[in-house]
Amino acid sequence: MSPSGGHEREVDPVTGYDTTGHDWNGIRELNTPFPKIVLVFLLATVLYSVVAWILLPAWPTGRDHTRGLLGLDQGQVAVKGFAALDGRRQGWLARFDQPDFAALAADPVLMAAAMPAAARLFGDNCAACHGTGGRGGPGFPVLADRYWLWGGDPETVAETIRVGINSTDADTRYAEMPSFAGLPREDRATLARHVAGLPSGVAEKDGPAAALFADNCAACHGDAGDGGLMNGAPSLTDAATIYGQDEATVAQTLKTGRKGEMPSWAPRLSAAEINLLALYVTRLGGGEDGQ
Ligand code: HEC
Ligand code: HEC
Repeated sequence: MSPSGGHEREVDPVTGYDTTGHDWNGIRELNTPFPKIVLVFLLATVLYSVVAWILLPAWPTGRDHTRGLLGLDQGQVAVKGFAALDGRRQGWLARFDQPDFAALAADPVLMAAAMPAAARLFGDNCAACHGTGGRGGPGFPVLADRYWLWGGDPETVAETIRVGINSTDADTRYAEMPSFAGLPREDRATLARHVAGLPSGVAEKDGPAAALFADNCAACHGDAGDGGLMNGAPSLTDAATIYGQDEATVAQTLKTGRKGEMPSWAPRLSAAEINLLALYVTRLGGGEDGQ
């Protein structure tokens, strides 16, 4: 480039290049030639795009696009991949249509495919209430221990999942802890202290508190509160609690009653998925994380 604006041609003494003639407070710009390597890369990329346009899907043509000579289509690849995956899943999931739980659990290959899928299904649908791995939370029973409201064999658990508890399903399991607000306040206080002492065994076996319990509570919670009736009323003598078994919480339970709601899953999950979850839940076992 020749110097503009009537400047003298000026040569940089160090590099031997002309300067552009621009001068920023004494800093001059060299008029270096365009580097060849950049030119080579520029040409290579242009060449590559021309080849790519010919071989690969490239230009939009209204609602469609040019397909390219290689006929590649990542969308179709993904669709085929999902179909294959779904086919494999449907393959083993169909075995859960029949709730022959003993046979299902005895097939280690099936279990290896099914249990991780069940864990994901549980995470998506159940963990919000029952906690990760079924470890429970305030108002939501632990599913990973051996204490059950309705029974812990897979058939019973499947039925609980299917119809729910106090749900809108016509066949729902129904259970309600009635309010005992009608009892004299001191009787409720006596009962609360008594029930709070049941798990540790400090509650007296006879006496007025035990008599109050036998009269008002044993019909649902079992003699001495040890449950096992599988009617939705929990045992009050074990370590597992839903709402809490300290004196204040029991007093609250007696005052207001409790009626936990478990949705029915028949409208949302297939029979096979419900059976799969039932088997999964019964295998969480022993209070471990189970994931
Ligand atoms: C909206 C909250 C909620 C969701 C979601 C939920 N549950 Fe429940 N579930 C409950 C409540 C509350 C109870 C206890 C009801 C009661 O207090 O009587 C319960 C009880 C149960 C029981 C009975 C336990 C026993 O001791 O007999 C099982 C089994 C169970 N749920 C499994 C599941 C599974 C499996 C899923 C996922 C498909 C699920 N639940 C999703 C709230 C929920
Ligand atoms: C008609 C049956 C019935 C009677 C009678 C009854 N209960 Fe209950 N009780 C239940 C049911 C069902 C639940 C579970 C409620 C739920 O999960 O929402 C429950 C829950 C409880 C809980 C909560 C346990 C926890 O894990 O948080 C306590 C405490 C309790 N009952 C104490 C009593 C006492 C004390 C009496 C007697 C004064 C009594 N119940 C009488 C049915 C009954």
